Amino acid sequence: MLLRYYGDPVLRTRAEKIAEITPDIVKLAQDMIETMIAHNGVGLAAPQVGKLLRIYIFRDEWQDEQGEYHLGEPQVAINPELSSPSRESVEMVEGCLSLPGVRASVSRPRKIHVRYQNLEGTWIDADFEGLLARVNMHENDHLNGVLYIDRTDPRDRQKVEEQLRRMKIP
Ligand code: NI
Repeated sequence: MLLRYYGDPVLRTRAEKIAEITPDIVKLAQDMIETMIAHNGVGLAAPQVGKLLRIYIFRDEWQDEQGEYHLGEPQVAINPELSSPSRESVEMVEGCLSLPGVRASVSRPRKIHVRYQNLEGTWIDADFEGLLARVNMHENDHLNGVLYIDRTDPRDRQKVEEQLRRMKIP
């Protein structure tokens, strides 16, 4: 699927709830998983492929004792509801497939509770921390028209916006 990039109004629009998990939604999820894998991402939200629907894909990534990176199975979250953020926050450098070539540090809660539907329509309750918590918060922001650069400190944001302007992304 074609990615939407910074400057595209679809990335700034709130996505709609998914009323029914139809075959079209299942197909969308599969296509989004393929797109995320093709771009080596750990998350992708529907607005990033031009669909204003409350669905995102995410996966874990970790390093083993030998320093080798591993990726977890892609998961699908439909109509996610985030709650109970930890009071403790952590800073981590983030990137986004819709803002290619730039990265910036963002402070977010260390843990988050996520309630979401899977592709069968079953509601799942999950507690995430570390990278998975971060990815869920980053992708859920996309469903509300929010980008990670909105959450960086203003100086970082200015730097990133200058870089994006210079790059003239597609
Ligand atoms: Ni993103």
